[in-house]
Amino acid sequence: MDAFLRLLLVVAALLLRPPAADACAWPHISCDRAGRVNNIDLKNAGLSGALPPTFRSLDALQDLSLQNNNLSGPLPSFRGMASLRNAFLNNNSFDSIPADFFDGLTALLVISLDQNPLNLSSGGWTLPADVANAQQLQTLSLNSCNLTGAIPDFLGTMNSLQDLKLAYNALSGPIPPTFNGSGLQTLWLNNQHGVSKLSGTLDIIATMPNLQQAWLHGNEFSGPIPDSIGNCKRLNDLCLNGNQLVGLVPPALENMAGLKSLQLDNNDFLGPVPAVKAGNYTYSENGFCADKPGVPCSPEVMALLQFLAEVDYPKRLLGTWSGNNPCTGWLGVTCVAGKVTVLNLPEYGLNGTISDSLGNLSTLSDINLVGNHLTGHVPDSLANLKSLQKLDLSMNDLTGPLPTFSSSVRVNVTGNLNFNGTAPGEPPKDASGSPSSSTPNLPGRGALPENKKKGSAVLLATTIPVAVSVVALVSVCGVLIFRKKRGSIPPNAASVVVHPRESSDPDNLVKIVMVDNHDGNGTSSQGNTLSGSSSRASDVHMIDTGNFVIAVQVLRGATKNFTQDNVLGRGGFGVVYKGELHDGTMIAVKRMEAAVISNKALDEFQAEIAILTKVRHRNLVSILGYSIEGNERLLVYEYMSNGALSKHLFQWKQFELEPLSWKKRLNIALDVARGMEYLHNLAHQCYIHRDLKSANILLGDDFRAKVSDFGLVKHAPDGNFSVATRLAGTFGYLAPEYAVTGKITTKADVFSFGVVLMELITGMTAIDESRLDEDTRYLASWFCQIRKDEERLRSAIDPTLDLTDETFESISVIAELAGHCTSREPTQRPDMGHAVNVLVPMVEKWKPVNDETEDYMGIDLHQPLLQMVKGWQDAEASMTDGSILSLEDSKGSIPARPAGFAESFTSADGR
Ligand SMILES: *[C@@H]1O[C@H](CO)[C@@H](O)[C@H](O)[C@H]1NC(C)=O
Ligand SMILES: *[C@@H]1O[C@H](CO)[C@@H](O)[C@H](O)[C@H]1NC(C)=O
Ligand SMILES: *[C@@H]1O[C@H](CO)[C@@H](O)[C@H](O)[C@H]1NC(C)=O
Ligand SMILES: *[C@@H]1O[C@H](CO)[C@@H](O)[C@H](O)[C@H]1NC(C)=O
Ligand SMILES: *[C@@H]1O[C@H](CO)[C@@H](O)[C@H](O)[C@H]1NC(C)=O
Ligand SMILES: *[C@@H]1O[C@H](CO)[C@@H](O)[C@H](O)[C@H]1NC(C)=O
Ligand SMILES: *[C@@H]1O[C@H](CO)[C@@H](O)[C@H](O)[C@H]1NC(C)=O
Ligand SMILES: *[C@@H]1O[C@H](CO)[C@@H](O)[C@H](O)[C@H]1NC(C)=O
Repeated sequence: MDAFLRLLLVVAALLLRPPAADACAWPHISCDRAGRVNNIDLKNAGLSGALPPTFRSLDALQDLSLQNNNLSGPLPSFRGMASLRNAFLNNNSFDSIPADFFDGLTALLVISLDQNPLNLSSGGWTLPADVANAQQLQTLSLNSCNLTGAIPDFLGTMNSLQDLKLAYNALSGPIPPTFNGSGLQTLWLNNQHGVSKLSGTLDIIATMPNLQQAWLHGNEFSGPIPDSIGNCKRLNDLCLNGNQLVGLVPPALENMAGLKSLQLDNNDFLGPVPAVKAGNYTYSENGFCADKPGVPCSPEVMALLQFLAEVDYPKRLLGTWSGNNPCTGWLGVTCVAGKVTVLNLPEYGLNGTISDSLGNLSTLSDINLVGNHLTGHVPDSLANLKSLQKLDLSMNDLTGPLPTFSSSVRVNVTGNLNFNGTAPGEPPKDASGSPSSSTPNLPGRGALPENKKKGSAVLLATTIPVAVSVVALVSVCGVLIFRKKRGSIPPNAASVVVHPRESSDPDNLVKIVMVDNHDGNGTSSQGNTLSGSSSRASDVHMIDTGNFVIAVQVLRGATKNFTQDNVLGRGGFGVVYKGELHDGTMIAVKRMEAAVISNKALDEFQAEIAILTKVRHRNLVSILGYSIEGNERLLVYEYMSNGALSKHLFQWKQFELEPLSWKKRLNIALDVARGMEYLHNLAHQCYIHRDLKSANILLGDDFRAKVSDFGLVKHAPDGNFSVATRLAGTFGYLAPEYAVTGKITTKADVFSFGVVLMELITGMTAIDESRLDEDTRYLASWFCQIRKDEERLRSAIDPTLDLTDETFESISVIAELAGHCTSREPTQRPDMGHAVNVLVPMVEKWKPVNDETEDYMGIDLHQPLLQMVKGWQDAEASMTDGSILSLEDSKGSIPARPAGFAESFTSADGR
């Protein structure tokens, strides 16, 4: 093979000293009449070595094909090669490109540098502005060649350019405005892998009239798909998956006859799945209201989504405003009997206008949009709302005049500077119908105090009669191991509760609750407020975010009078039942045991409600409602048909389940990471879960994961502030510093997340003292010892996983992440956002089947690959028939003596 290289060198050398007639006779080389080389065609020739620095002296060269070799070293400058038209240098190992490479390449039509690690050691490269002098350039293909920075402006003004391929680089920032109206036909910007990716809206895409293929997936594009996408009449292949796109998909997409392939998955699209005729069409992992194209959403959902659209789809609402039932935990939406009655979004930073679609929500009685940045007029449609009692629009930027409301509606538009025109008969500046009213807050708002200083944490009882056992800490490899011994008591702990091990315990783990003295008296400050409002008798009682009291009668019906057949699991707190509402909605109902009801217990119960209503995210199990009647205390959750992750990892044989594939595990890891990230940072406040483990990760019928069990959630008042708490959690998942000091930060959850990752990789429980090999009993410390040793890691991997090279590579990345998350020092652990960033591209890119056809331009594979992934996902979807009913596999772990309610509450994993 080196013969070819020598050949090339000889050619180059000869050409320096014409005449070179000899070389022109050689295979793969052609010359012009003057005996100058004008074509070199050595693709797929197995060449290795470097190109000579004097390469550019081949100044008559028009066509150069060196693709698919193993050429390495620096690319020489091509400066001044004014005849060069087609240059294929892709799929080699060139490791640098000189800054003047493109200088004077005025005849260039096509150039490809794909798949070369250019300037990798110096952090990549940016495209020099000289490229713009190639006025006739039609194809610029620079996939996977370490481009960094922004997409250069000048590319948008190169009028001949038809195909621009910049996939798999580290580009970031928006598509520059110069691309407005560009004549591009092919645009590949997919799968950027820098810290930040390509971002901004897709508005410019919709201005490109000739666009046929747009691959934009695997980036951070945001905002909705513009309505004007319909102007791209020739579009046939549009990949938008794996971005942060939001909102209703414009109907224009449905009318695009030429669209053959459309990928929408993994965004935040809402509303109906568009009825697109494309043959290759995917749309999963969004917030769509239906799972089939063309199925309309309920009118209430459409009205609310229209509202959302006009306020620019605020990020905070996107996590919860999905699906087809706004009464299932949409932030700021409150329902009574399945109808939207309150829209409560004060101080949400809402921009934009008030949609007149709100006029279609005929059951609305309260609208609270105080303190946003809303502009425009108050829509007339609001005056037609028959049930409306309160409309608080104060402190916005609205413009008058106000429509005429019936006198029973209390309207407040105070603090809207442009509101000088008012409705007839109303006083200026404050159009309130009842100026004396001094209750600007809606009931929903008032039900929970703003002051959450102590509030939201679930506090544990102080005095618990207990079997004291104890915890000695052994440090191995940066991970502390817990060994139970009788006798000594850890620092700061007044008492330690260790639940007796239950053979039926799903994860065979011991739960501990330590109660210490340095955190007040263990009374919940939430209690007063909530019981205060619940004393307001039997009427519907709204808590901030759309939860409502459900009559016990209804829950009796749904659970067939709490029949034994419907029991999903048991926890210390009570029994969890499966239920079905009249409309077919499946629910899970947690019923507090009458025996454990006490004032303290009620506080705990109310604290859990309080927390669940504040943190809402599609990867956190939502509370749908609750009941307080007589001695009944019931919490209603969404039903997760596939039960706990622990069951699928550790007990799949027993329950005759299909073991989880690696792809599913990756998705679950990402879901959990997203839920936890939300809990830590994105929720309005910072919360710490404190008991993250595979038994608390529940799977829906699509194996989408949600974190559950908020019984121990701790509210950290000021972000990552370290809060001294009563130690609580589960052996094997507990971060060392938390176990020792009782001080908790979000990094303790990160540790537990790392342990869950280890479980996903190995299929082994976090702790199992019955394991024969003593080293392996504590997963976190053992895993950390072996993970760097490829052979040992390989043999630790769950044998049910099909271990291809690719799977192993993917597992190695996750093993690394698991190690990072369980670093001994909390400060060395990443935050959950980092875990999400690591996982997103893995989920996005990880290919299920060996990709053996590393073909010309590698990226050509992409289309078949998408099909392959889709087919594979379909196959998986059909495997999961949702036949598993149990929500949680904990059975019979109700403590024999109910004395210590807190203790029981802590183990309320029966959900
Ligand atoms: C490519 O070249 C590098 C050294 O430049 C060598 O290590 C590698 O084995 C070569 N690969 C092939 C497939 O020839
Ligand atoms: C650089 O490019 C090579 C392939 O050409 C790719 O494997 C690598 O991930 C890239 N690295 C960066 C930092 O872009
Ligand atoms: C869908 O993709 C497959 C595989 O790439 C291809 O054979 C088929 O023609 C595509 N269908 C349409 C309608 O584009
Ligand atoms: C409203 O606009 C401001 C300024 O452009 C922006 O900072 C803020 O994030 C927007 N609010 C929402 C909820 O999008
Ligand atoms: C309302 O106030 C704005 C700004 O202060 C002013 O430009 C406008 O003329 C006023 N309109 C009326 C009807 O007074
Ligand atoms: C109207 O809203 C303002 C600002 O939110 C508030 O201070 C005032 O008390 C409200 N007026 C009435 C009558 O509710
Ligand atoms: C704890 O209780 C004692 C006695 O009831 C009381 O004096 C003290 O203020 C309480 N401490 C806190 C932090 O509530
Ligand atoms: C439901 O159960 C309660 C006791 O839990 C019992 O009193 C009542 O009669 C039952 N109702 C029906 C319809 O079975």
